Amino acid sequence: MTGMKPSTDHHMLPGLTRTVTARAGANFALVKYWGKRDPALNLPAVGSISVTLDGLYSRCRVRLDPEAAGDSVRVNGRDDAAAARRAGRILESVRALAASQVPARIESDNNFPTGAGLASSASGFAALVTAVAAAYGVSLAPAQMSELARLGSGSAARSIWGGFVEMLPGVRDDGSDAVARPLADPEHWPLEVVIAITDEAVKTVASTEGMERTRLTSPFYSAWVEHQPAQLDTMRRAIAERDFEQMAAIAEASALTMHGLAMSARPGLIYFNAATVACLHRIRALRAAGVPVCFTVDAGPQVKAICLPEAADRVASELADIPGVLRLTRSGLGPGARLE
Ligand code: DP6
Repeated sequence: MTGMKPSTDHHMLPGLTRTVTARAGANFALVKYWGKRDPALNLPAVGSISVTLDGLYSRCRVRLDPEAAGDSVRVNGRDDAAAARRAGRILESVRALAASQVPARIESDNNFPTGAGLASSASGFAALVTAVAAAYGVSLAPAQMSELARLGSGSAARSIWGGFVEMLPGVRDDGSDAVARPLADPEHWPLEVVIAITDEAVKTVASTEGMERTRLTSPFYSAWVEHQPAQLDTMRRAIAERDFEQMAAIAEASALTMHGLAMSARPGLIYFNAATVACLHRIRALRAAGVPVCFTVDAGPQVKAICLPEAADRVASELADIPGVLRLTRSGLGPGARLE
């Protein structure tokens, strides 16, 4: 970790620590991240652009415990070894800055299904970094928080910020320039999102494994990486100009290209189910009829319909009617990670 300085005024006495709580919104990408240039440091091969939500979030509570034998991480009330491994890298970095060896007890909860393509790792690690840094008394700039959150999950780097966010792939080997930056506040363009849940179970190939398989086996992977900067340029402009048609065109193209790429891996990754595909067709038909809505899909079968606020009720009732849609979740855009 380069350029990070521990704060000097927060040194804590072992045994006297309080519980620190932080909250971060889930995010999903309008221009997708898929593929790493360095899997060890979680450095993305491509930049990405996302929106942070207010209605889907993680809350993370951290308490330093000098009596504990080691760190513990519980997610939604259960010990989570995979999350603990990822959190371990963050804890190591923060403890080095704090010159501390005290273990941490971490509890994280999501108000939405975990691991089913609703980006729980993004909000989870963004909240975790925010709470862990505060618990150890280390004050970090948001870019540094973003760098640490990325160690947990690439997309978590984006949930440090609210509204519209761009993740930079960076070029440095140490990852110090692979961080997210804000593009616009939620108020700049208050979009609404209707999420169609088509399967609550966790049974897809996780993004980390899926993107690595894609990088290693897809014949089209290098074309994906080369194509991405043009997509990012157009999306940045569409957001700045609040140009819904342009945003919709690029968001759908990026999602379909990512899924096409994933399908071209060996063995091919199929994240869609029948209801996913039916939702995509319905959203396309609505937009053709003049309703400002477009879709995106991540590494799972849920469909995120992005719309202008006036279209959200209509979009929700249309998606609710589709066989296989189990339920809907709605959200606006929200702020970045913060302490409570
Ligand atoms: C499809 O951030 O979950 O949601 O960095 O391996 O933890 P790791 O992957 P993760 O991948 C997100 C992939 C995606 C697209 C996106 O959010 O940009």
